[in-house]
Amino acid sequence: MRILITGGAGFIGSNLARAVQRDQPDAALLVVDDFRSGHFANLSAEARGSTPGFAYRGDVIAGTLHTLDLSELLERFNPDVVYHLASITDTTVTDQAAMLRDNTDPFRNLLAWATAVPAGRTTPRRLVWASSAATYGTTANGATPDRRPFTLDDAGTPANVYGFSKWVMENLHRAACAAHPRAHLVGLRYFNVFGPGEQHKGKMASMIHQLAQAMLRGEAPCIFTPGDQARDHVHVDDVVACTRAAARATATPGIYNVGTGFATSFNAVVQALRTAIDCTHPTRYVPNPYTFYQDYTCADLSQTTASLGWAPQHPTSSAIARYAAELRDRHHPPH
Ligand SMILES: NC(=O)c1ccc[n+]([C@@H]2O[C@H](COP(=O)([O-])OP(=O)(O)OC[C@H]3O[C@@H](n4cnc5c(N)ncnc54)[C@H](O)[C@@H]3O)[C@@H](O)[C@H]2O)c1
Repeated sequence: MRILITGGAGFIGSNLARAVQRDQPDAALLVVDDFRSGHFANLSAEARGSTPGFAYRGDVIAGTLHTLDLSELLERFNPDVVYHLASITDTTVTDQAAMLRDNTDPFRNLLAWATAVPAGRTTPRRLVWASSAATYGTTANGATPDRRPFTLDDAGTPANVYGFSKWVMENLHRAACAAHPRAHLVGLRYFNVFGPGEQHKGKMASMIHQLAQAMLRGEAPCIFTPGDQARDHVHVDDVVACTRAAARATATPGIYNVGTGFATSFNAVVQALRTAIDCTHPTRYVPNPYTFYQDYTCADLSQTTASLGWAPQHPTSSAIARYAAELRDRHHPPH
């Protein structure tokens, strides 16, 4: 097996690389990343919870996808599977041309590679890539009684250019699937992912990480009024498992949601962290300055489970408690 991970020095990509190396030790691994938001430490010794240090055994090419010769690299490395996770992940970037150039343009080369059938190859090349719940925008928001999980057809009205860049990638994906029905193309709409390896994302790390760090510094947790805004917060271990399930030969091509199927409010997130970190500061509430804000996200997972044979294994509240304990122990190492 030859496996290429774009964005493999990032949060989810490095967790994926670790899992692939653990479970497929004979696989040839190549990470391509320009390190704009990734970090070598994600692929180095840092311990993950109770998992001891890690030594990456694959290759790394430092390069930006839209400037390096991606087609040549794909032909040369000749992967069986490409996990495409590289992306501008700062959702507050407003440079529209940059967002489309960096996120959407390289995807055309990847689709061309994945849909080509070279002479002598009997199984399709496999491309699994990261879309986002940002493709749902804010239209599915509503008063609490109207909240329901997002079904796949609810997407298409992204509220920022990050979500738009992913939506255009989905359009390209759908066109490629229609033209090449045998191609193995799976896009995954990740919801709000949290877990080890995200610290390098800074202000783009999950709110769970940022709130935990504030509490560990002895500060009050600060969230938007009234705190009942709710997101589908999913642990990175579940996201990695689903991403790998999408690369199995048995997976049905398509675009799927990846979450837990439950929305957890920010008040509940703070409560779960408070217990694990033993924080007694009262919660500080501030007005939400954003006009376009997802008050609510929740993944309908029925098609994900039916088509990929995957279901989440880490309920949000216990996953938050476990992650908070890991962050606490790293902050105050136990003696
Ligand atoms: N973390 C989440 O909650 C979440 C939610 C929805 C979708 N996603 C998607 O999942 C993927 C991984 O996100 P993440 O959370 O691990 O973020 P991340 O920022 O940690 O990882 C992205 C990686 O891609 C690299 N990169 C960015 N642009 C590049 C380019 N043009 N060429 C080469 N490398 C480039 C970065 O250096 C980084 O290592 C992204 O596609 C993101 O849009 C993440």
